[in-house]
Amino acid sequence: MSGKTSNEMWGGRFASGPSAIMEAINASISFDKRLYREDIAGSIAHSAMLAEKGIISPEDAAEIRRGLEQIRTEIDEGRFEFSVAHEDIHMNVEARLASLIGPAAGRLHTARSRNDQVAVDFRLFVKNAARDLDRALRLLIEALVDRAEEHAATVMPGFTHLQAAQPVTFGHHCLAYAEMAGRDRGRVQDAIRRMDESPLGAAALAGTGFPIDRHRTAEALGFREPTRNSLDSVSDRDFALEFLSAASIAAMHLSRLAEEIVIWSTPQFDFVRLSDAFSTGSSIMPQKKNPDAAELVRAKTGRINGSLMALLTIMKGLPLSYSKDMQEDKEQVFDAIDNLALALAAVTGMMRDLKVNAEKMRAAAGAGFSTATDLADWLVRELGLPFREAHHVTGRAVAMAEERRVALEALPIEDLRQLDARITDAIYSVLSVDASVASRTSFGGTAPENVRAQVRYWRERLGSEG
Ligand code: ARG
Repeated sequence: MSGKTSNEMWGGRFASGPSAIMEAINASISFDKRLYREDIAGSIAHSAMLAEKGIISPEDAAEIRRGLEQIRTEIDEGRFEFSVAHEDIHMNVEARLASLIGPAAGRLHTARSRNDQVAVDFRLFVKNAARDLDRALRLLIEALVDRAEEHAATVMPGFTHLQAAQPVTFGHHCLAYAEMAGRDRGRVQDAIRRMDESPLGAAALAGTGFPIDRHRTAEALGFREPTRNSLDSVSDRDFALEFLSAASIAAMHLSRLAEEIVIWSTPQFDFVRLSDAFSTGSSIMPQKKNPDAAELVRAKTGRINGSLMALLTIMKGLPLSYSKDMQEDKEQVFDAIDNLALALAAVTGMMRDLKVNAEKMRAAAGAGFSTATDLADWLVRELGLPFREAHHVTGRAVAMAEERRVALEALPIEDLRQLDARITDAIYSVLSVDASVASRTSFGGTAPENVRAQVRYWRERLGSEG
């Protein structure tokens, strides 16, 4: 390597050599500036506690608070100059505090380290993001419940293997997603409960000899209690992983719904029409209306899953306690938060806006001998056939209808009687799609009356949250 300048070795981007490379790989200010509100809140709580415990003077604490509040205003108003030389949000704020209030700024970091500082900032941030996610999921459920009420009796084909299986209602289909989103909220709320502990005061890793009051700062920052182990406090990123895993599952659900919207809105299906707001035209094919928003929701799920995988992988080899690897947690979480919020807003908007083509759904629901199970059930109920035998007889009826290219309900009674002489006209009452869905009254079944009851259940559940 001798004889080469640093420029030749590392290329133009790092023309000034190792120090520039180190700064570029080490600095996190470009993304962790997003934590400024949490960072300032943490510092205010910490300095107030230090003064209460007689560790710093009340005058210094007051100065620190005044300076920090001014910095928050400067950042809020876009007047703060972030500097890469100060590496991260913690040092950017502290450096500015020193220039605003002088030596008192140096007392803020007593009995604290950036390790517990970043841990508390990030927990506060993720906790807020989790609450926002919970609220956004609620809005999706509200949209689904509204559409379910409107379409409690709108018949559509229910699918398994994407083959028409048995008729269901569109309302029932919407409420299936409400159930998923309801569980998603449960996961987010569980994660919030577990992350609700303050790591502040764990200091670098071992705690501190200063007589601090961690219960006091935990309370001031809105945490239920302080964390119990200082090593764990600075090395734990479970809260971020739990958030990402709940986010990934929620995104997966959104992606499935988005995929259905893509399928339903094809001219071949034509079950739904997307509003112009959530689709785009083609630049070359005038007849097209593309479900871009739904496709992008499907794609966003990939990067949200990726964030979970990235952070799991970042964490898996780290010895206790803090390692700089952990600085890479934030971009993953920020990216997942932003993209999931967007995906949720898009799916909620699409579900609220989409026009349901009830005629198309009904016609498709009747195709493919979708009431064959109803026919078999009738044979069991009315003639006492064992289900397996009824299944066999029904199979022959389907073959007959297929051969004649007619629907099951269009088979003449004489033909059906060839399969079993005891069959009567009454069988036709179960062969229509409406009769089929109306009969599915078992708890959780698709009958319109059940769907209406579930809509009432959801309204009560949401109402009781206030
Ligand atoms: N920017 C760092 C991070 O995000 C803050 C903690 C730095 N701690 C340290 N010991 N270097 O993780």
